[in-house]
Amino acid sequence: MDDEKLNKELNKILTLEHGHLGMYKNYIEHEDKEIRRAFRRFMEVEEEHIGKINSIIRNLGGKPSPTVDGGDIIGKFFGVTMNTVSDTKEILKIYSFIEKKSHEGYAKFVSQLEQDTQERNQFIAEIAAANMLEAHLMQLWLENKMQAL
Ligand SMILES: [Fe+2]
Repeated sequence: MDDEKLNKELNKILTLEHGHLGMYKNYIEHEDKEIRRAFRRFMEVEEEHIGKINSIIRNLGGKPSPTVDGGDIIGKFFGVTMNTVSDTKEILKIYSFIEKKSHEGYAKFVSQLEQDTQERNQFIAEIAAANMLEAHLMQLWLENKMQAL
């Protein structure tokens, strides 16, 4: 993966991560205590994801430029309406779908980097793989909770 493509991919990921943060940052508004607790931690995890991607971009000499327009980024990306959704089960269904997409997106990115012989890209793959795993963990929690409702 050349530098231009790498930078483009990282900024796309960064945009999506900002969208993920938006899903959980209003955790306090949820009625279910377990959801509030999980979403609070998920918010922190998403902040960590953003921090790591920012750090990779900066260490590559770039400037993080997520296309955060204040709008519904995730909804636009995946064709779902986020802001009008209020049913808890529906929220869990959409969020688990989005975390699944995140996990899949990272898996693709990681495998592309792994095909690279460049040591630097191998290192970036390891950082991205940690985010990939956490997206998967969140997906599984959301699915589990959805079934328990
Ligand atoms: Fe994330």
